[in-house]
Amino acid sequence: MESSELLAKLQQKHLHALAGGGEDKIRKQHESGKLTARERINKLLDPDTFVEVDRFKTHRCSDFDMADQKIPGDGVVTGYGMIHGRQTFVFAQDFTVLGGSLSLAHAEKICKIMKAAMKTGSPVIGLCDSGGARIQEGVMSLAGYGDIFLLNVMASGVVPQITAIMGPSAGGAVYSPALTDWVFMVEKTGHMFITGPEVIKAVTREVVSKEELGGAMAHNAKSGVAHFSAPDDSACLEMIRELMSFLPQNNMEDPPRSAAKDDPMRRDESLRDVVPSDPNKPYDIRQIVQSNMDDLYFFEVHQHWAKNIVIGFGRLDGMPVGVVANQPNIMAGCLDIDASIKGARFVRFCDAFNIPLIVYEDVPGFLPGIHQEHGGIIKHGAKLIYAFCEATVPRITIITRKAYGGAYIVMNSKHIRGDINLAWPGAEIAVMGADGAVNIIARKNIEASPDPEEERQRRIEDYREKFSNPYLAAELGYIDDVIDPAETRMHLIQSLKMLRTKRDINPPKKHGNIPL
Ligand code: HXC
Repeated sequence: MESSELLAKLQQKHLHALAGGGEDKIRKQHESGKLTARERINKLLDPDTFVEVDRFKTHRCSDFDMADQKIPGDGVVTGYGMIHGRQTFVFAQDFTVLGGSLSLAHAEKICKIMKAAMKTGSPVIGLCDSGGARIQEGVMSLAGYGDIFLLNVMASGVVPQITAIMGPSAGGAVYSPALTDWVFMVEKTGHMFITGPEVIKAVTREVVSKEELGGAMAHNAKSGVAHFSAPDDSACLEMIRELMSFLPQNNMEDPPRSAAKDDPMRRDESLRDVVPSDPNKPYDIRQIVQSNMDDLYFFEVHQHWAKNIVIGFGRLDGMPVGVVANQPNIMAGCLDIDASIKGARFVRFCDAFNIPLIVYEDVPGFLPGIHQEHGGIIKHGAKLIYAFCEATVPRITIITRKAYGGAYIVMNSKHIRGDINLAWPGAEIAVMGADGAVNIIARKNIEASPDPEEERQRRIEDYREKFSNPYLAAELGYIDDVIDPAETRMHLIQSLKMLRTKRDINPPKKHGNIPL
């Protein structure tokens, strides 16, 4: 065959593959508010950087007339390209081809790029839009899922793994996204569930819509399975790019430093008045977090779930940092089951990927209640302790107000290897608040007093003076310094610079046994 003929044949094959499931299916995809797999990849990656792998791969099934239904690529577009000029591997399921269902060949394509990502130390992003296991392939497609799960786990903590749910994700198929570090969901079109509304109705008689059961907000606000919710495909892909700007390529690299324009010495006098003098009054911790970050920019993650703890990324003098902050605005910033889980997973992510941790503390303690106790706050709270204890990245704590009891220890205290622990002048570092303490240790004296209320107030004042301040902890060296709130940014940057060369190790072991 002439070379021109060979090239024409090649061209024809390319066009066939690029057409996916055909015009009708693509129109349907657009009508349902979704982009196609290729459109998504093009929006996700830097322009003209996508290199496709396995464009011609097809399934090998001949049952149920499948021999006549071979579309090159087999329902998933895979390859690599750049995000902010850094190499990233990507797969995007193509719902126009057999509903994006996963055949063994489809799984092999995903596994191939995951292996390449691990070998080259590059992140993997999966854009999911699939009817799940290819029913016609039976156990072969289940085997494909098993192969992907295994690689998800092998890649965990080695390269960042991100998933966007941009269509259906049902049955056991949801477990690959759940094994990745970050789950994005698109509102109205993204759905995740182990069993859908029909099965639930048949088994438990509960009636629920698809959206209520497994839509973006169900998993962002109720289950905590998803970390981000986006109004549409384009916004979702833009958010993934934003997240990527804070992450290193792999566990052997530092996160990407950018040239900072913001003055590292910038003061903010308004921070002196953010914390109300009344210890029971709430305030928004995000004001403080934002004020300290470069360009006042804080990228909050997991923001709809367990709002009593705030987590996210920012930059200090150009260096990406992870933030964990109690939120006094919600439930007084108490640590409960969900907040502990949310905080712990984030701390472990940052530690795995060399992202320094900045902790803002204003916590009255763990949330009391039967529901919390019987729900296992003991084991879930232990997750947060465990995560901080094992973290070897630079760790800095700012105590803005309350640091009471066990929660004081948990929130990156010196005792569990916090590197730099600073307090604002109004900080209260004590076993508990003055009111509660006096009620316990001086109850009898108060009751016996001729004026119990006056006696109570006197004792509260006494306790406050002795314990509800940062100075006893500072005298003991548990706090490195008590600082002017206006200078917090300067102190954070100074501490981070000092810690840049920090090296710390944990004892060799197969792995620890985090209380799951
Ligand atoms: C083969 C599938 C398919 C599947 C969809 N299709 N899911 N083909 N295997 N799992 C095909 C349809 O036959 C149809 O083909 C095309 O994809 C589009 O599907 P529609 O039903 O027309 O689309 P829509 O109305 O939007 O509904 C989408 C859907 C529905 C909600 C995803 O198709 C559905 O319920 N699919 C089955 C979901 C499921 O039960 N999967 C198995 C989950 S268990 P044509 O040719 O007509 O266009 C699982 C186990 C994993 O995944 C275990 C891991 C350990």
